[in-house]
Amino acid sequence: MKKNNADTIAPASLPGNRGKAIGVEKPKDSLAVLVRLWKYLSRQKLLLSLVLLALVVNTLANLGGSYLLRPIINDYIVPGNLAGLAKMAFLMIGIYLIGAIASIAQSRLTISMAQKTVMQIRKDLFGKMQMLPVRFYDTHQHGDLMSRFTNDIETVSEALNNSVVQLLISSITLMGTLGLMIYISPMLTLVSLIMVPLMLFTASKIIKKSKQFFGANQAALGTANGYVEEMISGQKVVKVFSHEEEAIHHFEKLNGHLGQQSMKAQFYSGLMMPLMFNISTINYALTAIIGAVLAITRGLDIGGLAAFLQYARQFGRPINEISSQFNSLQSALAGAERIFNIMDEEPEPKDSEDAVAIASVSGDVQFEHVDFSYSPDKQILKGISLHAYKGNKIAFVGETGAGKSTVINLLPRFYDIQSGKITIDGISIEKIKRDDLRRNLAIVFQDTHLFTTSVMENIRYGRLDASDEEVVAAAKLAAADSFITMLPQGYDTLLVNDGSNLSQGQKQLINIARAAIADAPILILDEATSSIDTRTEIAIQKGIDQLMKSRTSFVIAHRLSTVRNADEICVIDKGQIVERGRHEQLLAQKGIYYQLHLRQFD
Ligand SMILES: Nc1ncnc2c1ncn2[C@@H]1O[C@H](COP(=O)(O)OP(=O)(O)OP(=O)(O)O)[C@@H](O)[C@H]1O
Ligand SMILES: [Mg+2]
Repeated sequence: MKKNNADTIAPASLPGNRGKAIGVEKPKDSLAVLVRLWKYLSRQKLLLSLVLLALVVNTLANLGGSYLLRPIINDYIVPGNLAGLAKMAFLMIGIYLIGAIASIAQSRLTISMAQKTVMQIRKDLFGKMQMLPVRFYDTHQHGDLMSRFTNDIETVSEALNNSVVQLLISSITLMGTLGLMIYISPMLTLVSLIMVPLMLFTASKIIKKSKQFFGANQAALGTANGYVEEMISGQKVVKVFSHEEEAIHHFEKLNGHLGQQSMKAQFYSGLMMPLMFNISTINYALTAIIGAVLAITRGLDIGGLAAFLQYARQFGRPINEISSQFNSLQSALAGAERIFNIMDEEPEPKDSEDAVAIASVSGDVQFEHVDFSYSPDKQILKGISLHAYKGNKIAFVGETGAGKSTVINLLPRFYDIQSGKITIDGISIEKIKRDDLRRNLAIVFQDTHLFTTSVMENIRYGRLDASDEEVVAAAKLAAADSFITMLPQGYDTLLVNDGSNLSQGQKQLINIARAAIADAPILILDEATSSIDTRTEIAIQKGIDQLMKSRTSFVIAHRLSTVRNADEICVIDKGQIVERGRHEQLLAQKGIYYQLHLRQFD
């Protein structure tokens, strides 16, 4: 497994290459994404219905309250009916009050609906990520995957909290207003609609422009963020090569660019409101004048005119809202699409129908003519055959990149082979349930990993039901106990940042203890002691030998002293086993192993 190597950062003088441009991506299939989001929302049936109900009540109350102006003026103000007027005024206040309550309820309900939905999405995404094969992680940028969890979910959450509801309110208001306007006076409605094409045209022009700038803004933001992330993870390399000045200088450039793009984006999106406001004010004036003429010549009632003007004034607002929510909705859909794309990734294939459950294997491992490649264009392993009998110790040696780690990564089925066969106890590993297969393997990987928790829990990760005493015993076996007890809080010391408060060798010792406690019949050590000093190595070797006594083990080591007692040493060169045998046999052959040996012990 190759993981993102924090040491290979871009020099400060180059643009941050990991800051992948995000941009206001357009979702490729908006409708499909919408349908899927809707499915998520509709899981909260009760909340969703309540939100919709509150939303409709709120909008209708607003529309209805304004309509009351008509009877109030026509039937009470004009005839001068004071008592009736007071009653109507109370009615109006009552209606607006209901609207206000509904609006508060709606915003509270929306928040919990959005939160629950986002929680569900997060849960599904995380669950999915646990199901994805190693190949997926080997071929995707980890920073990019992280950003789906953070940025993308955030934009979706933002949209669910605001945009979606706002869009619904605006649409209902728009239709309601239009309906009531037509009801009051179709003629006057026609007049006030004259400006609508102009409004739509202006809005679409501005949206287009601002989308462009928002895209550039997002891209600049992505680059700047990516750069900061690189500078944090690569801080040591930056410092040791004295690139701080360049880093600052480069960041200033990125920051300046970001500022400019952001200004432009804000300017255009800020243009929308005042422009629309002015157009609708003109529209209002026009409608008022023509409405007055109609009232005089065509007998339009004064109350009707007043209510109509009220609507005409509000008419521009929903159009405005819809267009301004459009952007954020669009980026939310793009974010949701990126999230759904991961959810649609192929998980690790299910165990085949005839897969067998094996609680514990005896540990007879066989490779028969195994060919393997990570990608079709480059074959890595060619015709690997070997037989590890129960309790055997098999060692792999060979130069960097020869394929040693690849061989052992095949056993837990991180990758499946193209041809040949790997069997454990005579059963093809593809026919063993994955969980059972992996439970029977204890692996110390070449790149160690420690979780952010105590030393104790990090070791216990190998077998969750292990007692504290067993953890300590495993640590003693791995010669880790003596340094752990020297740590400030001993076994309770918190490890952070992949164990950045430990030395590389100490990390390896803890990883070995974790494998020891797993108590699996097959043990795999990939350069497990490469960073450990020779004295500690001798100490740990006793423990490891004891561990291996009853187990089948595979050991990869550059340091040949660790492999000389192996039952079989395989020399791997360019993906093939070119020499094999016991230490003395290989030395006698005077081949590659002999050469390696000479160079190490001269
Ligand atoms: N996940 C991967 N995807 C594609 N190619 C890979 C991957 N991992 C390793 N390789 C390639 O496979 C080949 C063998 O790599 P492998 O890690 O098995 O070497 P190794 O013998 O363990 O080397 P080292 O001694 O440096 O650990 C290398 O050419 C490497 O570039
Ligand atoms: Mg390796």
